Amino acid sequence: MEIPSALRNALKHASMVTAFTGAGISAESGVPTFRSAGGVWKKMRPEELASMEGFLRNPVLVWEWYAERKRIIADVQPNPGHRALAQMQDLFPRFEVVTQNIDNLHRRAGSRVVHELHGNIERNYCMACGRNFSNEAVLAMEGVPLCIECKGQIRPDVVWFGESLPEDAWEAGVHAAEYADVFFSIGTSAVVYPAASLPVMARRAGALLVEVNPEPTPLTPDVDVFLQGAAGEVMPAVYECALRERKDKR
Ligand code: OAD
Repeated sequence: MEIPSALRNALKHASMVTAFTGAGISAESGVPTFRSAGGVWKKMRPEELASMEGFLRNPVLVWEWYAERKRIIADVQPNPGHRALAQMQDLFPRFEVVTQNIDNLHRRAGSRVVHELHGNIERNYCMACGRNFSNEAVLAMEGVPLCIECKGQIRPDVVWFGESLPEDAWEAGVHAAEYADVFFSIGTSAVVYPAASLPVMARRAGALLVEVNPEPTPLTPDVDVFLQGAAGEVMPAVYECALRERKDKR
């Protein structure tokens, strides 16, 4: 893949690079996206499965769905897109991943700085007393998992519609947008706020804004460089390019 000279040049000089990712980066690992053809929200209504109202109305249905997603995610592996980001972190003084994904695949691929805006499906907590539970523990419980201390309901540690983002992850995401010299928006439809405001924030603060997606998104008209294609093909090419451009810096 041909990497445009604006990106080559920015990679050569960058002190800080940020990769903002969405469900598309995990698509090639076999994790379904939300809004593409065959995506989760084409079959299910988000407010039924991913909201407090939905959970209180039908905790059995919500837990069945999360148990299924936990099993899918436990069985998949990071793909070349995740791995390219993990390799890129060693080429720059600062390299941070800000993700909307809850699948933990960036960490499993070796990325060291990962800010999770929407939580992590490998964690669960009691809504009454806050005690944490592993997936192993909750999946072994029958029906809706209840806290072994206080009998409160346990929920997955993910952000649902209508809930605020974890403050520390959000602040770190804003910082990573504001200080980036190059900001990648990878595999996200860029429609869910506040996460989707980060690419625009980064560009306003002076970053070169690069989008990686097989399809144009609402963000595409505002980016400096659009690399059309699958993350698992594009990001390894970006890594190779960065490796060449940074040779004299290492
Ligand atoms: P979406 O499902 O909205 O968007 C996935 C994007 O990935 C689309 O733009 C696809 O074109 C693109 N895509 C598909 N395959 C790809 C590939 N191989 N490489 C690169 N891109 C690819 O997912 P998100 O933008 O992550 O929130 O959705 C944002 C949030 O909405 C999620 O975090 C979730 C959801 O509701 C919550 O649950 C709070």
